[in-house]
Amino acid sequence: MAAILEEVGTVESAFAYQTPRVTRRVKPRSTISFLRIMGESERTLTPVDILKARKALGAVIRRTPLTRSQGLSDAGGAEVYLKWENLQVTGSYKPRGALYKLGLLGDDVRRKGIITASAGNWSLGVALGARSLGIRATICIPETTPAVKVDRCKALGAEVVLHGRFFDEAFAYARELARTRGLAYVSGTEDHDVFAGHGTVGLEILEDLPDVETILVPVGGGGLAAGVACWAHAVNPDIRIIGVQSTATRTMYESFRAKGLVDVPVPPTICEGLAGGITQLNLDLALRYLSDVVLVQEERLADAILWMLMEERQVVEGSAVVGPAAILEGRIRFREGERVAVVISGGNIDLETVGLQTTWPQDPFPRRTDGKR
Ligand SMILES: Cc1ncc(COP(=O)(O)O)c(C=O)c1O
Repeated sequence: MAAILEEVGTVESAFAYQTPRVTRRVKPRSTISFLRIMGESERTLTPVDILKARKALGAVIRRTPLTRSQGLSDAGGAEVYLKWENLQVTGSYKPRGALYKLGLLGDDVRRKGIITASAGNWSLGVALGARSLGIRATICIPETTPAVKVDRCKALGAEVVLHGRFFDEAFAYARELARTRGLAYVSGTEDHDVFAGHGTVGLEILEDLPDVETILVPVGGGGLAAGVACWAHAVNPDIRIIGVQSTATRTMYESFRAKGLVDVPVPPTICEGLAGGITQLNLDLALRYLSDVVLVQEERLADAILWMLMEERQVVEGSAVVGPAAILEGRIRFREGERVAVVISGGNIDLETVGLQTTWPQDPFPRRTDGKR
């Protein structure tokens, strides 16, 4: 670790450290592997990348708190700590990877603008990153995405294009627009720079809880888990990294067990961030880094969200509540007193989803005509 710190300490700017880009070529889509960008699979994720990201992210990204949860410690018979990325700027961990990635883009790409597709939180991260770097961003979002994410994305100044019911439809349309408008497509799910940015979550956990033994991470494509694990294993290879999905969003769970890509249909879910297909690159990272992937009951997630609201006084979205749910449902065995960190990856949920009335017939604090309150 000392060697890593020394290496990063010698660069003037973390951005100067970029690994040369490998030419990217998009393969035809299949039902499961709708995105297969060559080049990224030949790179590896290293702790040095994560340190570079931390250095580059600077003041824009909040250092989120890690706090002990009495309720979850009691439920799990362990010492459980929560990493509150719902308190991150934009309400999820995504700006970590987005900002780092966009900061690495060349002037030419920045001038032309970028495009991405996302079911929500990634789009907010990209919108924020683009705004802070003065890049024009276009974002394709499936029509089923919660309104809170769409509205906030627009408020951050991105051009929002609502298209399709699911991510892969929005993604296909984004690729089409990238071609016709000459924009660079920025992937949130298959890019090692993005994963390195997300890995700063792991770095902070290890700084605050150096003797952590197990870390629970929600898994969609697995970029967050890979980033967290990459750092954690550099510090201590014995740390268990356990991925969590819901029964409705079980693609990584099934693929991890089969050690090969499995196509799993996604029924309605409140974990839109964990839903959808994965690629070989995603699976390879999961097989390398994760000790296990466990499932929690989709039908019980609304209760878990309310539990977190009542017990921890925090709003946690479906994709992020799977870690606490795994403990509450007794899905993971812990040694008595084991030190466990749980990543609470986001809080962007329409609270009507869990039966709470949050819209007024009339806004009690209406905006002025200039958009300010
Ligand atoms: C709140 C939240 N948690 C977890 C994830 C899953 O992240 P990953 O795809 O990196 O596994 C997402 C993805 O969008 C998300 O929005």
